[in-house]
Amino acid sequence: MERRHEGNGRAARRQVQLLLLLSFFCWAATEQLRYSIPEEMAKGSLVGNLAKDLGLNTRDLVKRNLHPVSGNKVQYFSINADNGNLYVKERIDREEICGLNPLCFLDLEVVVENPVNIFHVVVTIQDINDNAPEFLNGNINLETSELTLPGTRFLLGKAEDPDIGLNSLQNYQLSPNQYFTLDVKESQDGNKFADLVLQKPLDRESEQTLHLILTALDGGEPRKTGTAQIQINITDANDNPPIFTQELYKVSMHENAPLGSHVLQVLASDKDEGSYAQIRYHFSNMPVNSKQKFSLDSASGIISVVGILDFEDTQEYTMTVAAKDGGGLVTHCKVVISILDENDNAPEVTLASVFSPISEDSPPGTVIALINVNDEDSGDNGKVTCYIPNHLPFRILRSSNNYYKLQTDSTLDRERTPEYNITITATDKGTTPLSTHKTLSLKISDINDNSPAFEKSSYTIYVPENNPSGSSIFSIKASDPDVDQNSRITYSILNSNIEELPISSYISINSETGTIYAQRSFDYEQFREFQLQVKAQDGGSRPLSSNVTVRVFILDQNDNSPQILSPSQEAKGSALFEMVPRSAEEGYLVTKVVAVDADSGHNAWLSYHLTQATEPGLFTVGSHTGEIRTARPFVERDAVKQRLVIVVKDNGKPSLSATTTLNLVFAENFQEALPEMKAQPNNSESQSELQFYLVLALALISFLFLLTVIVSIMMKLRRSGNPRFLQCFGPVPHAKNGAIFPPNFEDGTLPYSYQLCLSSESKKNEFAFLAPNIQIAENILSGVKSDVPFTGNGGTQLNSQKGDADEVRFN
Ligand SMILES: *[C@@H]1O[C@H](CO)[C@@H](O)[C@H](O)[C@H]1NC(C)=O
Ligand SMILES: *[C@@H]1O[C@H](CO)[C@@H](O)[C@H](O)[C@H]1NC(C)=O
Repeated sequence: MERRHEGNGRAARRQVQLLLLLSFFCWAATEQLRYSIPEEMAKGSLVGNLAKDLGLNTRDLVKRNLHPVSGNKVQYFSINADNGNLYVKERIDREEICGLNPLCFLDLEVVVENPVNIFHVVVTIQDINDNAPEFLNGNINLETSELTLPGTRFLLGKAEDPDIGLNSLQNYQLSPNQYFTLDVKESQDGNKFADLVLQKPLDRESEQTLHLILTALDGGEPRKTGTAQIQINITDANDNPPIFTQELYKVSMHENAPLGSHVLQVLASDKDEGSYAQIRYHFSNMPVNSKQKFSLDSASGIISVVGILDFEDTQEYTMTVAAKDGGGLVTHCKVVISILDENDNAPEVTLASVFSPISEDSPPGTVIALINVNDEDSGDNGKVTCYIPNHLPFRILRSSNNYYKLQTDSTLDRERTPEYNITITATDKGTTPLSTHKTLSLKISDINDNSPAFEKSSYTIYVPENNPSGSSIFSIKASDPDVDQNSRITYSILNSNIEELPISSYISINSETGTIYAQRSFDYEQFREFQLQVKAQDGGSRPLSSNVTVRVFILDQNDNSPQILSPSQEAKGSALFEMVPRSAEEGYLVTKVVAVDADSGHNAWLSYHLTQATEPGLFTVGSHTGEIRTARPFVERDAVKQRLVIVVKDNGKPSLSATTTLNLVFAENFQEALPEMKAQPNNSESQSELQFYLVLALALISFLFLLTVIVSIMMKLRRSGNPRFLQCFGPVPHAKNGAIFPPNFEDGTLPYSYQLCLSSESKKNEFAFLAPNIQIAENILSGVKSDVPFTGNGGTQLNSQKGDADEVRFN
């Protein structure tokens, strides 16, 4: 463009020189005419009327042929030959023709003929604002670091406007922005430049690229502008440290989290880019204990568990995590990991002190043990309650914070329960509660609270008479549920109902074993029973004792032969005579042999037998009654004197016997018999005296017997109220209280020992009657010894209401 303008300029200058030359040579005939027009007038626009301005007569114009001098130059104008008007013929661009030359004109040679004349026309071309300023480079790309300091200038090149004067470039303007201002400068050749000046720091992170518009302005009317796009790329600098999403990360997690579980992720971002934004994480300030528990992934920022977390050990971990970008900028954040308690600890039960054994007489409320209970968990997980089984006579009470008291709740009895295993259960209040059991062994110590107890409430011992002296006859036993000394029993004899001699002469007891020894040989015929109190005493410091009644019964043995009372055996050989009337019928009761046996029962059950007779078949002996009767009437050839030998046997095994001899005389009266008996000594006087006492004694005995029978029957009736008031103690031994009773033993209240047998269906009531009293029997015996023949009617005959079979037998 400039080049083109220069070319045009040179051509114009040549035209001017030519014109000057022409005007110098043809001066007389030429006149100069001036016009001024703006450039870029439309084609055909009127510039001026040449004819008039040249003073040509319009009527002659055609004739004069007014026309421009044609050359090889561009013809900008044309002339209307008819009216002499000058018109624009071509586009006139001042900038093309004159460039920057402020004086711009076009020369025109106009020729008229008839006469020929040359006129010089100068058309001055006025500038109009037809060009906008224009940037040589419409897109300005700049690049600068965000760290560029304010005040830094950036050259922007310039805009050009081919117009001149005011119409040329006047100023620059920059689109509004916060970073840059424009500094416009004029160089010495008048060109205007604009510089960008940075006003404040850039930040790539907030604006990576700035788009500005630079406007160049001219001063024309209207004003024209040209613009250039400025693009400023801001390059990154590591001016941003990483920034965590949170300054403080708080997280809570349960203890016992499995290894490898994620705790949390720290996250930092960096507004820079590239390596400046690449963040690596690491623990910066880490207590040793946390180091073993957590790991940090340096790329992702994930913190995970690598060690067992135990709330009871550490409840909170605090650590600092650093984030470092590729440019080395570091930011820290704080991480707080709270550990939540889980019920992972069972309560611990410690027996602080145990008072065992305790005495069985400890009152309720006695403290047995102090128990310490502890649970390492916290909150409800660490709240513990203690209990013991309900059925035990104990209770557990909270005494202070972690202590429980175990107390007795009722009285104890070592003999019933010598030992308790008390299981204490401690349970915490966690959602899945944990329990601990602790068993405490409590021993109960003995006190002497139990007396010895005999195995039976009373003892009955049966000792056969004639026992060897010093033999053990029984063993009694008492037991004591206490232990040791409190149960060591010693036996002793307290007292007895024997008055004549000290009991120790009858019986002794082994104080250790309870074995009872007979100290002498007992004689049933002397005494038959006695009783004594045996005491058992334990060895406690305050000894307890109990006693038991031991009844000793002497059992009869057949150690006494029958004693024949009648007839008297005093005068042996010279026996007494019994008179039998010669007219005695068959069955006449001659006499009765009366014998007694000091034994009792079978041993005293006597039977009578005839062993020798002068005339066999003449007499019979009632084997039970001892009655001697005639078997047939007396005949003349029978001897007058008859001798009978009677044997009395008892029923013992072996049986014992006694023999007596009877002398019988058949006579009609005493005188007749007298010679037969003459040989016999007569002592009838003393005999009759003795006979009297014997009868008296027998009457007394019978009376007493009757009395006792009546009394006993009445008492039985009263006691039983049963018509079958009597029970038969027959020969078959009865067991009563485990003791074997002899057939003749009746546990009654009578002072007599006798056998009472009453059969309910049979019509025969039999009273077996033992010798009522030793003394009486002895008296009787001693009386009998005084040689009185007893000719009673075979004991006492008692008639019952029925009167036929009731028999009282006096053995
Ligand atoms: C108590 O426990 C001990 C030991 O386990 C055992 O030998 C004893 O028999 C138990 N006692 C009771 C009364 O259960
Ligand atoms: C024997 O025991 C009874 C109670 O069973 C008692 O009353 C009595 O006093 C005791 N006798 C002696 C001599 O200790």
